[in-house]
Amino acid sequence: LGQIKAPAGFESRTPPYEKLIDKLFKVKHILNNQPLTLAEKILYAHLVEPEELSGSASSRDIRGNKYLKLNPDRVAMQDASAQMALLQFMTCGMASTAVPASIHCDHLIVGKEGADVDLKSAIATNQEVFDFLQSCGEKYGIQFWGPGSGIIHQIVLENFSVPGLMMLGTDSHTPNAGGLGAIAIGVGGADAVDALTGTPWELKAPKVLGVKLTGRMNGWTSPKDVITHLAGILTVRGGTGYIVEYFGEGVESLSCTGMATICNMGAEIGATTSTFPMQEAHVRYLYATNRGPIADLAKSVNQNYQYMTADPGCEYDQIIEIDLSTLEPSVNGPFTPDLSTPISKLKETTKENEWPENITAGLIGSCTNSSYQDMSRAASIIRQAAKAGLKPKIPFFVTPGSEQIRATIERDGLISTFEENGAIVLANACGPCIGQWDRGETAPKDTNVIFTSFNRNFRARNDGNRNTMNFLTSPDIVTAMIYSGDMNFNPMKDSIQLENGETFKFAPPHGEELPSEGFVAGRKEFYPPLEPKPRPEVAVNVSPESDRLQLLEPFEPWDGRELQTRVLIKVEGKCTTDHISAAGVWLKYKGHLENISYNTLIGAQNKETGEVNVAYDFDGKPFGIPELMMKWKAENVPWCVVAEHNYGEGSAREHAALSPRFLGGKIILVKSFARIHETNLKKQGMLPLTFADENDYDRIGSTDLLTTVGLPDLVSKGGNNGGILKVKVTKRNGEEFVIDCKHTMSEDQVEFFKAGSAINYIGEQKKL
Ligand code: F3S
Repeated sequence: LGQIKAPAGFESRTPPYEKLIDKLFKVKHILNNQPLTLAEKILYAHLVEPEELSGSASSRDIRGNKYLKLNPDRVAMQDASAQMALLQFMTCGMASTAVPASIHCDHLIVGKEGADVDLKSAIATNQEVFDFLQSCGEKYGIQFWGPGSGIIHQIVLENFSVPGLMMLGTDSHTPNAGGLGAIAIGVGGADAVDALTGTPWELKAPKVLGVKLTGRMNGWTSPKDVITHLAGILTVRGGTGYIVEYFGEGVESLSCTGMATICNMGAEIGATTSTFPMQEAHVRYLYATNRGPIADLAKSVNQNYQYMTADPGCEYDQIIEIDLSTLEPSVNGPFTPDLSTPISKLKETTKENEWPENITAGLIGSCTNSSYQDMSRAASIIRQAAKAGLKPKIPFFVTPGSEQIRATIERDGLISTFEENGAIVLANACGPCIGQWDRGETAPKDTNVIFTSFNRNFRARNDGNRNTMNFLTSPDIVTAMIYSGDMNFNPMKDSIQLENGETFKFAPPHGEELPSEGFVAGRKEFYPPLEPKPRPEVAVNVSPESDRLQLLEPFEPWDGRELQTRVLIKVEGKCTTDHISAAGVWLKYKGHLENISYNTLIGAQNKETGEVNVAYDFDGKPFGIPELMMKWKAENVPWCVVAEHNYGEGSAREHAALSPRFLGGKIILVKSFARIHETNLKKQGMLPLTFADENDYDRIGSTDLLTTVGLPDLVSKGGNNGGILKVKVTKRNGEEFVIDCKHTMSEDQVEFFKAGSAINYIGEQKKL
């Protein structure tokens, strides 16, 4: 084992294989050499103490039950979430980060006219925030990828993801890196601070869902269709508590970037993460991205220790089989990514649902689909259309994922193909995917349809219009659809009438997995030094007058008593982190907790009245939800929110936990939680509870008083990794009843609760 050394020059980008294999051997010994899934191998190799698995009869006992304490290898943060992550990290008083980390400026760039103009204007608008992030990067030795360098997940794939790596990212699509055989998990900033400070990061051992791919990808079908199809089967909650692990001979027909697309959108089914076993496609991609020595090392580690492949005979908790040979392109939406319609059924489904038939824009790119393969396939469709004399009928936008992709497709003539055919090439950034899309004067105000190759389609996510219906599909289908602008068009079968009276039918797209002449890096100014050193002399300035940045005040610790809270609102239906902490224009305030909190739950629907962003005070007076939160905070009325299923679905956005806490929230009581959000609530010292009996949701109304029964006892016992906590409900008329609620607090999470937040607790520990 002593010979597994990182290649010279690649030290910070190579997983510590020697240590990992050593730990894996220990785990194997403890578990009597039981066959393990790939996900288990990578996770268990990152255990702080493999011995913590002692006493487990089998790996099946661990999954879904045991909390694991892990040491991730790396952290990545995007500019919107990095602000709060770094403000929290700063309160811990460390001189540098415990693991390599990177910051990526991608979320704050509005897409409108095209890359050059938009980038200049974004830099001018966000200078203060970018300067803050850069100075944090310099001070603590974190790599700073500035605005225009690319989207976090594409840059991570090109530079940092490696088979067998385990990393955290402050963005829900961090699992994108699983396309290159990593375990990459989306978290909130407070979790990232665990890794940044070298504090063990805790995760309830996920179950493992095996997806067996058979057959071969062909024709119009693309990797996007694997995950849009799977989302249709599993729904947005089906992956909750699972790592999705792909296997089967079908995997061999996928490119590395195609696997990344599939892992990226695993976030849409609620999965902890997704991953693929090591493939030759990984080796090819590592070589193409100038990491040949890491590829060679990873290959030999896998050959010798089978670290990056599942053991024969391993058991999955659930298996789903997908035949790639017969898989059809899907179109998912509107408003939820699991409403999946095969392209052949789109016409009739559109009719049945009375969706508008006209499409108003097509957008390709984003972190989900901006690989060289995606771009070259899209360009092949455009070339066919151009040859037939066709022009796009609707606006078409392209967001390259990174400067490397942009420069390479520019060299290979793809950018000119796009632009000559009417496309607007936006900056290498998130842009329209995260509400940073200025559609200008002609923006439809009402219901309208867009087709995108993005991953998420919640209301108001793209252009701020709640009635824009975003249908998610492959870049191939989006590109073909811009030539019809019609939901009834099936590019696989239908023809388009040409002006000369002839008809034109698309041939299936084709593209190259990797550029035959290799990638080009592009403009040097977009590349930070690979091995930044901390510079303690650098000052990080946060002006007290700033409306963009605000230093954090610690939340108050728990007072040791039962929680007594009033129901501020009973939320109806889907309540994603976009409903709880909206993006778009609010992205501006990500580093200013007070200012961003004015957006809290403004997208939520009141169960009792059907209104959006309306809650009622004790005297029946209506308020905007955040306004009532502020009022009750000022009046010292602790409050709680009651809601339905998958509360906090979607994103790692920790403001969705920070803002309610800041505004005086204590308990969130729901039918079920999305994993990341539940963890984020615990990290901020809130008490997340779920109904033991869902019918109790109907028995609670706004302004009811909820009082915990036995919280001090639960805390004194260290949480027991979950169980029942009773809650007394007192109605306004004095009627009382007690309901059973479930909590999932581990010993560490109880400490966060007691200290007031995880950061308070980490700060206390660092001082000891
Ligand atoms: Fe950015 Fe959209 Fe991906 S916001 S990180 S492109 S999901």
